[in-house]
Amino acid sequence: MITRRGLLKIFGGLITAGFASSAYAVVFEPLLRLRVTTHRIVPSGWPEGLKLRLVALADIHACEPWMSARRIKAICDHANTLDGDLIVLLGDYASGMNLVTDYVHSQDWARAMSGLSAPLGVHAILGNHDYWEDRTFQRNPSVETFGETALKAVGIPVHVNKAVRLRKDGIGFWLAGLGDQLALLPGARFGRRTFAGVDDLPATLAQVSDDAPVILLAHEPDIFPRIPDRVAVTLSGHTHGGQVRLFGYSPVVPSRFGNRFAYGHVVENGRHLCVSGGLGCSIAPVRFGSPPEIMFVELG
Ligand SMILES: [Fe+2]
Repeated sequence: MITRRGLLKIFGGLITAGFASSAYAVVFEPLLRLRVTTHRIVPSGWPEGLKLRLVALADIHACEPWMSARRIKAICDHANTLDGDLIVLLGDYASGMNLVTDYVHSQDWARAMSGLSAPLGVHAILGNHDYWEDRTFQRNPSVETFGETALKAVGIPVHVNKAVRLRKDGIGFWLAGLGDQLALLPGARFGRRTFAGVDDLPATLAQVSDDAPVILLAHEPDIFPRIPDRVAVTLSGHTHGGQVRLFGYSPVVPSRFGNRFAYGHVVENGRHLCVSGGLGCSIAPVRFGSPPEIMFVELG
């Protein structure tokens, strides 16, 4: 029989465990952890002798106190130590939360990232929040977003539906950046009924003018079923691994495919997708079972 004292002990234990796991999910995991997750892939048809190491940073979501300019700089300093051939930035630099003590100006987060360095350069795409937080863009999609302006100002090229040809050890490959698939918010004041993207996959891949392999950067992984075999690997972010992930399952994933593309290395019909768990938080400052990560992809 459980005594009153025993019952109180159980309740006390549950409350302590609740506080401890809450503190872990709100403070320790999102703020203090950082892991490097490595995927080693040899896509079919990959050129003999081309060894590429990509360092990918996704979903920074700059805001105080969760992702300060100082913390962004520390993450970038760590990314530089990984010795990648190129560094790719997979979008969502802007905050996606209201639970903040302050926002970090785009010039400040861009300056914090300006020290990123790799032999084949630093290359960026934009994410949905980089468009959603820019009301000027939402009213007039022909203007450049403030995030793109800030990145270019520190010398980081932003690839929106653009492919560039690079070379490593004399062997060429393409790096293609897709425009964001959710860029345009719905709303009467914007004159739109539904979300719309600025992505143009055919126009992006039309710039690939030879048979060198293609690496595609696409913020949201939902495009993956439409990616042709011609693309060796697609790198995405956006999902944050659901921010809460238990035993390989995320209860909430911002993808119409649910857990199919929620996190990690996905292979479907011989095609490869790597989804980073990202670094920051959106909606709520919580992470559990999905610590902030730098994704490291070794190809070849
Ligand atoms: Fe996103």
